[in-house]
Amino acid sequence: MSFSKDWLALREPYDARARNVSVVEAVIASLADKSTIRIVDLACGTGSTMRALAPKIPAAQHWQLVDNNLSLLARASEMKPAVGVTFSTTPIDIGYDLEAALDGPVDLITTSALLDLVSELWLERLVTEIGARKIPLYAALSYDGRIETTPHHSHDGAIMAAMNTHQRGDKGFGPALGPAAASVAISRFESLGYRVVHGPADWRFDPTDRDIQRETFSGWASAARDVDNLPLADIVEWLTFRRDAIAAGRSSLRVGHIDFFAAPAGLR
Ligand SMILES: C[S@@+](CC[C@H](N)C(=O)[O-])C[C@H]1O[C@@H](n2cnc3c(N)ncnc32)[C@H](O)[C@@H]1O
Repeated sequence: MSFSKDWLALREPYDARARNVSVVEAVIASLADKSTIRIVDLACGTGSTMRALAPKIPAAQHWQLVDNNLSLLARASEMKPAVGVTFSTTPIDIGYDLEAALDGPVDLITTSALLDLVSELWLERLVTEIGARKIPLYAALSYDGRIETTPHHSHDGAIMAAMNTHQRGDKGFGPALGPAAASVAISRFESLGYRVVHGPADWRFDPTDRDIQRETFSGWASAARDVDNLPLADIVEWLTFRRDAIAAGRSSLRVGHIDFFAAPAGLR
């Protein structure tokens, strides 16, 4: 599955606004006694997690940004980080070679908008590798299945159901956890004795947030088409209704996400 830099750029300000503040505070507090830290960001895209988190961390930081999309990594490498922040980019397919991404001394693993793409098997591999190294994970922006659309349309339920079916398809890691990802990950970390701080990180699109709503609804229509259990005419009717509502400044949307920070026992 491929993600365009334009889509990542469009969603980044909404992601930044959605990130759960208490979860971010728990991440920062856990690093308080360190003067230098090394962070690995899995599936970094163009580096949005580093842009969101680095300015909040007082310590000197080195970020290793990992992704398998070379064009997104090239965009990430253009970042000009603040004094005290350095980074490198590493092309790795974490579906195959996760362990290589975690090699060496690491103080914190981060990721955003990844876990809903991965399978239960791969998630358990991630939890095992992180647990064995006794390091913490900050995982932001996992879609959790909650959606509120205004205005209502009679096909909303069918489109959302098709979209959630699509979410559970294979995104390169085996059958994806989709909306269940964060709750499964949290329970796996808790079973290892990790302390987990979690909370909602919902996208909230107001009537003036037209471009992101247009892209989101188009993506859902295309997912519903891929799933292939709805009449095409219903999908077109629904998408036309949504686009008209956006154009008329009457459309708003909330999409549920979960952020969490999982820290091994003994870490603050
Ligand atoms: C939804 S994007 C999120 C990007 C970034 N974390 C953000 O929040 O803007 C998902 C990212 O996962 C990356 N990805 C997907 N499959 C991957 C794989 N097998 N190995 C490494 N990265 C992968 C994509 O290239 C993309 O950058």
